[in-house]
Amino acid sequence: MYNRKLIDLFNKRYKKSKLKSEAINQAFKERFISNISEIKAISDELYGNSNEDVFEEILNSIFSAYQERAPDLKKLDLEKEKKDGWFLSNDLAGMSLYVDRFAGNLENLPKHLPYLENLGINLLHLMPIFESPEGESDGGYAVSNYRKVDPRFGTLDDLKSFHKELRKKDMYLMIDIVINHTSTHHEWAKKARAGNKKYMDYYYFYEDRQIPDQMELSMPEVFPESSPGNFSYVKELDQWVMSVFHNYQWDLNFRNPEVFIEMLNNIFFYANLGVDIIRIDAPAFIWKEMGTNCQNLPQAHKILQLIKLCNEIASPGMAILGEAIVAPAEIMNYFGKGRFATHECDFAYNATHMALQWDALATGDTRVMMAAQSEIMGKPLGTTWLNYTRCHDDIGLGYDDAMIQQAGLDPYLHRTYLKNYFSGTSPNSPAKGALFGVNPKTNDARISGTLASLCGLETAKAMGSNEIIELSIQKILLMQAHSFFLGGVPMLFYGDEVGYENDYTYLQDEAKSYDNRWMHRPVIDWSKNELSKNADYTEHSVFSGTQKLLKIRKSLSVIADKKNLYWLQNHNNAICGYLRHSDNQNVYCLFNFSESEQNITFYVLGEASKRPAKLKDLWTGKSIPIGHDHENLHFKPYQFYLLTEQ
Ligand code: GLC
Repeated sequence: MYNRKLIDLFNKRYKKSKLKSEAINQAFKERFISNISEIKAISDELYGNSNEDVFEEILNSIFSAYQERAPDLKKLDLEKEKKDGWFLSNDLAGMSLYVDRFAGNLENLPKHLPYLENLGINLLHLMPIFESPEGESDGGYAVSNYRKVDPRFGTLDDLKSFHKELRKKDMYLMIDIVINHTSTHHEWAKKARAGNKKYMDYYYFYEDRQIPDQMELSMPEVFPESSPGNFSYVKELDQWVMSVFHNYQWDLNFRNPEVFIEMLNNIFFYANLGVDIIRIDAPAFIWKEMGTNCQNLPQAHKILQLIKLCNEIASPGMAILGEAIVAPAEIMNYFGKGRFATHECDFAYNATHMALQWDALATGDTRVMMAAQSEIMGKPLGTTWLNYTRCHDDIGLGYDDAMIQQAGLDPYLHRTYLKNYFSGTSPNSPAKGALFGVNPKTNDARISGTLASLCGLETAKAMGSNEIIELSIQKILLMQAHSFFLGGVPMLFYGDEVGYENDYTYLQDEAKSYDNRWMHRPVIDWSKNELSKNADYTEHSVFSGTQKLLKIRKSLSVIADKKNLYWLQNHNNAICGYLRHSDNQNVYCLFNFSESEQNITFYVLGEASKRPAKLKDLWTGKSIPIGHDHENLHFKPYQFYLLTEQ
């Protein structure tokens, strides 16, 4: 929408900025003209149309961010734009890691880049690195200073030097912005605690329990065991403050436009460090409304759209990942709806699919996974998933009951089975994990544990059985393969590439013992990772298998996310498969999630597209003779095929 008044405002501001009228700035101008009316409309909607100051502030932030953006980043913005969805490419593969637990600090990190490159990684997600109080940190998600790197990891200059090293290797950087809450040690929180009205308005304070009690009726609890309830008492003020996560993480009040502007400026600060993907932490929670569950509210989406549009003008090369771990129908809204489709988050975590892979592995039955697909297939072209099997968080089982029912199962009994299977309580389960966030009021629980331990490697090693060890490695690779080829960026979790098992030492650390997610956040022992070079060790089997999968993925442009994924009909519940299709290539990815041998008929291949004449399995390198429709393709336990036409 063209709005003369806004364009005049821009021209005035542009003149004042002394930006030269070169081509690169012309592009900025064009981006501005296309987005500014929407920015004004959303800002009016959220903060009232008489509040011109808010809009002015947003304009100032955009201009300052653009002016401060380094020329090489501006150039890179345009190069990325030309690639038409640089982040959809099959060339990207990421890893999330804690700087201290992986390399000690930022200074040491570059020396491990060759290891990551050798694995096939070219995108690094550094887990939160900005200042966070050691004992009350929530793994860095309780931020006390958004602009200062925590001294445990180094300095901002170390981060900048590290980024230069990444750029030299054409590698990408992803970091977090924790927008929903700050640490109680943040200067805003300290001032609020001291009774400073301006900063008390940055948070949600209540004089008594009346409103908190009413809100609790409809608000779920995120950490029911370690931090029950959604409000904390602040002794100094004799008041209550909203703290949805831990009581040392106070929720920011986005109804206050100053909070929005502060966060927008922090986002631009990260963008101008050269960040390629910004992970917006917990965006589902950023708007609260009495009588609702205070998640996924329309205003939360508006705020994300506002951030996206501002970013599109000043730092368009930075993609946005929304870390919304929410029900399948809700997640789709984070890609933007209606005219905002593709103008909200570029990426979302494929948490539904991640959890459903674990569901299929535990049950040997892919029906629930299949039942969820119609919901999550509607993602708009131009946006993508972040696919993963494990991350630093727990595995939630929050997919809809209806999906379980559609598979003919009882949701309560099914979830009980999964919880018992992964927490190691069921006698026949090789998985070794633990229940996290158990809520006796709702019967909910999530699951902690490393990829290897949940796939049975820890148990198999304790039993000393080579056969079971091999089976668990096969499961690890099945899980990774299934997520790598779906479309979207695979994000590995550090340690999983060599099969780290659970680490129980967190129980001895007072700052961590209340949170069993630490069992799957290993401290890297590089002598163990070195074993990846020695064929006698499980570390080698897991590493070389993962490396091979990533290599195959990079060689197949059809795996880029161009909305070209087709699920094959389920003819055998243990086996699921999808076809990745382009004009010149078809790749059939087929997975046996069960512990027994299985078959499907060749008929399934002809159902989705023209029946191929000759196939080769890219995983084993072997040709696969294609039988008649009624003849079988045979699978060993947990076997998968990556089949392409020869
Ligand atoms: C996100 C993080 C999680 C953290 C929470 C609160 O979900 O992934 O680790 O506990 O936000 O910041």
